[in-house]
Amino acid sequence: MIVSGSSSQSLAASLAAALSEPLADVSVSHFPDGELLAAIEDGLASVERAVIVAATVSSDDHLELLQLQDAAREAGVGEVVTVLPYMGYARQDRAFEAGQPVSARAVARAVSTGTDRVLTVNPHERAVCDFFDPPATAVDAAPALAEPLPADLDDPVFLSPDAGAVDIAEAVRDAHGGGTVDYFEKTRRSGTEVEIAPSDVAVADRDVVVVDDIIATGGTMSEAVAVLESRGAARTFVGCVHPLLAGAAYTRLSRAGVEAIYGTDTIEGPASAVSVAPILADALE
Ligand code: R5P
Repeated sequence: MIVSGSSSQSLAASLAAALSEPLADVSVSHFPDGELLAAIEDGLASVERAVIVAATVSSDDHLELLQLQDAAREAGVGEVVTVLPYMGYARQDRAFEAGQPVSARAVARAVSTGTDRVLTVNPHERAVCDFFDPPATAVDAAPALAEPLPADLDDPVFLSPDAGAVDIAEAVRDAHGGGTVDYFEKTRRSGTEVEIAPSDVAVADRDVVVVDDIIATGGTMSEAVAVLESRGAARTFVGCVHPLLAGAAYTRLSRAGVEAIYGTDTIEGPASAVSVAPILADALE
């Protein structure tokens, strides 16, 4: 049975269809004091496996996930599998100053208590899987980012905004069929400001595809797009696995003149053109 968190309803439905498993009836309500109550309304006693699909975009998503795990256990389900299409707090994978928590570890510990297995999609660092107690694996959705690209890309360049995401650029290039791969050098100045040093690759009059694991504020991508514009790139396509697109990020990128902004349904929103359901279904079969 597939159990959906509030932020993953469309992905959970696609996954249920791909696996030919029923989709649970989940209710979410609030008490007068604001506390959340997520419940599974179906009888689960004879269910062998509950797959809880919950992108943890907000703090409420986290809490809801813990409640759904507990409800499944309480109902006597044989195996509880937790799918975190997008794992919130994963980028806080170290303490940057004394006194700070390793938030990704804290979240992983909490999630671990209610599950037998964890599956996630392109976390910022794969090592985050080690923070979970039960077996945790990360699937790679990068090749699927080639799906929405037009077949007629002109002498394309596949770029990542920093060295850490160049494997995503390579995967998209390989899935598309060919082209140059390179990356920019990025220096982060603040939570929203980054500085991008362009690579030496020639982009003038060529189609460029810039890909990253996540677009959050859009600061990184906007800088990359501005550099490409100033260097005379033809069309610029922007892709990412996790289209978080916080605040005005979508507008910011649209105004920068990109041809298309797309991502996957690990986070559901205006740019979720690619479904990771087939990839997750493979990993769950
Ligand atoms: C950082 O290394 C990540 O790969 C992304 O480049 C970054 O998190 C994107 O954040 P933003 O959209 O806020 O610049």
